Amino acid sequence: MRVCVVGAGVIGLSCAIRAAEAGHSVHIVSAQPAAQSVSAVAAALWFPYRASPQERVLAWSMTSLRVFRALADDPESGVALRYGTELHRREKPDLWWAEQLTDLTLLGGGELSGVIAPNPEVLGGLRARLPILVMSRYLGWLEQRCADLGVAVSAATLDSLTGVDPTADAVVLAIGLGAGDMLGDSEVTPIRGQVVRLGNPGLTDWLLDEDDPTQFCYVIPRFDDVVCGGTAEVGQSSLEPDMATEAAILARARRLVPDLADAPIVSRAVGLRPGRREVRLERCDDLDRTGRLVVACYGHGGAGVTMSWGCADEVVGLLAG
Ligand code: BEZ
Repeated sequence: MRVCVVGAGVIGLSCAIRAAEAGHSVHIVSAQPAAQSVSAVAAALWFPYRASPQERVLAWSMTSLRVFRALADDPESGVALRYGTELHRREKPDLWWAEQLTDLTLLGGGELSGVIAPNPEVLGGLRARLPILVMSRYLGWLEQRCADLGVAVSAATLDSLTGVDPTADAVVLAIGLGAGDMLGDSEVTPIRGQVVRLGNPGLTDWLLDEDDPTQFCYVIPRFDDVVCGGTAEVGQSSLEPDMATEAAILARARRLVPDLADAPIVSRAVGLRPGRREVRLERCDDLDRTGRLVVACYGHGGAGVTMSWGCADEVVGLLAG
């Protein structure tokens, strides 16, 4: 089939790759190049953050985990496997996302020295080795893989499905937040996330603190820098970094990791996660009056990278009918 993928973020590129590998002739149309998509701002630790429904999210995420583990052998991919800790501030943490991980260690509060500065509010943690992706490199790797598979990419802003190449037999809508305007999907909401990147003082392990009552806090070392976040501001769409928010992010991160105290700020960024009550991944041919096969794949919240390969496999399965 001739397949048109709308969207060139991590979901669009991954769907295009799997569709081309399955033998389809694939063309990507996107208003923005990957480097300007929200994927480029992703922190991007494998962790299924703010996405539903849990059972599907977990299945898609585990598929991606297997792919990322294999990609970590290729330095060109920008994928690395790193140990790190999710902190727990509740007696009974919800470990749904980790239930299929085989190589994790649960730590008690007394076992966190060397992980964080002493903090009586933190009761324990989960230590695991997970993929971290340097998105600038990884998106380039995905684009190169597309090019190697003969996937054409063109720039265009599409207001509706009628603008999609009329010769396409099938359309994949990997349109993230764009689903609001393009399809009138009122369930799609921006979830604003702000990060600040610091020079890396030598950290290797990542840290996540989703239980922090004030905000989701994370410290994710890549190679030269450390991504500190974050925020999850539902319905907010300003792309301008807010300095008071940045100060709060840094205060939380430095409280946990005092080694960051003198690390210089390298850059700052804001991304609008495509929030939705549930990820929409389904056939929806009725959206198109010409009777083409249409697959929607959007609404991935803070887990687009984490679920990307699992979603791409399912999309290609739906293309097969
Ligand atoms: C985020 O959406 O900000 C995020 C998601 C997963 C891991 C770290 C950060």
